[in-house]
Amino acid sequence: MVDDHNRVINYLRLSVTDRCNLRCIYCMPEEGVTFTPHSEILTYEEMIHIVKLCVREGIHKVRLTGGEPLVRKGIAGFIQGLRNIEGLDEITLTTNGVLLKEFAQVLRECGISRINVSMDTLRQDRFYQITGRDFFDRVWEGINEAESLGFDPIKINVVAMRGVNDDEIVDFAGLTYNKPYHVRFIEMMPVGENNGWSRDKFIPINEILDRIRSLGVINPVCRNLLDGPARRYRLEGAMGEIGFIGALSNHFCKTCNRLRLTSCGHLRGCIFSDQKVDLKTPLRTGRDDDNLLNLIETTIRNKPKNHEIGLWGPRKCARPMNEIGG
Ligand code: 5AD
Ligand code: SF4
Repeated sequence: MVDDHNRVINYLRLSVTDRCNLRCIYCMPEEGVTFTPHSEILTYEEMIHIVKLCVREGIHKVRLTGGEPLVRKGIAGFIQGLRNIEGLDEITLTTNGVLLKEFAQVLRECGISRINVSMDTLRQDRFYQITGRDFFDRVWEGINEAESLGFDPIKINVVAMRGVNDDEIVDFAGLTYNKPYHVRFIEMMPVGENNGWSRDKFIPINEILDRIRSLGVINPVCRNLLDGPARRYRLEGAMGEIGFIGALSNHFCKTCNRLRLTSCGHLRGCIFSDQKVDLKTPLRTGRDDDNLLNLIETTIRNKPKNHEIGLWGPRKCARPMNEIGG
C-alpha cells in the first residue's frame, strides 16, 4: 500500500518483546525499567494474525526486533509460523548476539539468512561499560558461528558515541578488510526518556566517514531499493562494506518504507512519532478482520511525512527503544 506521501510501505519491524538481556546505555537504564506485563504482550498467535493482515496490505518483509527477540520463549516456533504466511518473502532479525551462538543453527533452519548484530565495541572491558553485562565473548562467538553457518550478510550495528567508542571507529571500519561483515555506523538517537542522549555524545555520520578516510580509498556502493536508510561504502580491497545510518543528520524519511508493531500491539508509522494505533484491543474484543485492516490502512495513510527532530534541539520521544524496537 502507498501512504499519503507516495511511499510504498512494504516492510514491518516487529518487536516481539520489550525485554532484554543487556542494558545498553543508549536504550535502557539499569534500574527502574518497567516492562509490559506478559498479559499485555501479544501472543505469537496474535502476532501472526496481525502480520497476515499486514501482508494483505502489501507488507512482504518482516524484521524481528526487541528488546532482544531471542530472549522470548518459543521464538523459533514463531518464526516457523511466520514462514508459513503466504506472500511474506523475507524474515530477518536484529539481535544483540548474546544468544546467537545457541540459536544460529535453528535460525538458519527457519530460513533466516540475513541478521543484524548490535556490537558497539571491539574491547571486552568497554562492552561491560556500554551494556552493563559481561557477554563480550559470547557475542563474538555468536558472530563467528553465524559466519561459519553462511549467514550473508552479517551486519554489525555500531552506535557511535563520542567519548565512549569513537576511538574505535577506524578499527571497526578496518575489520571489513578481512571480514565479509557490513559494519554500519548509527547515529545515536534521542529515543525514550532516559536514553543518555546528549549533544556531546552525538557524532554525525559525515564526521565518522571523514575519520575512516584515513584508512584508505573508500567508494560508494550502488544502492538498491531494499537498502533502507543506510548509505553504503566499501574500502578499496575490502571484503566487507561500511554503512552509515544518519537518523538525525540525514533525513531519509522520503524513502521510508516501514511500519512498526510493538510487542504490546501498537502499530506505529514512525519511530520518532508518538502516534500509534492500538490493534490489540480490537483483536481481543473480537472485532473482525475488516475492522483491523481499516486500522492498518489508516496507520499507513497517516504515516508522518518526516520526523521533526532537529539536530541541535532534539525532542525526545516518550517511548523507549526497547519497546519500539529500533
Ligand atoms: N540510538 C541509535 N541506535 C539505537 N539502537 C538502540 N537504541 C538506539 C539509540 N538510542 C540500535 C541498537 C540496534 C538497533 C536495533 O537499534 O544498537 O542495533
Ligand atoms: Fe537490549 Fe538492544 Fe536495548 Fe541494548 S539496545 S538494551 S541490546 S534492546
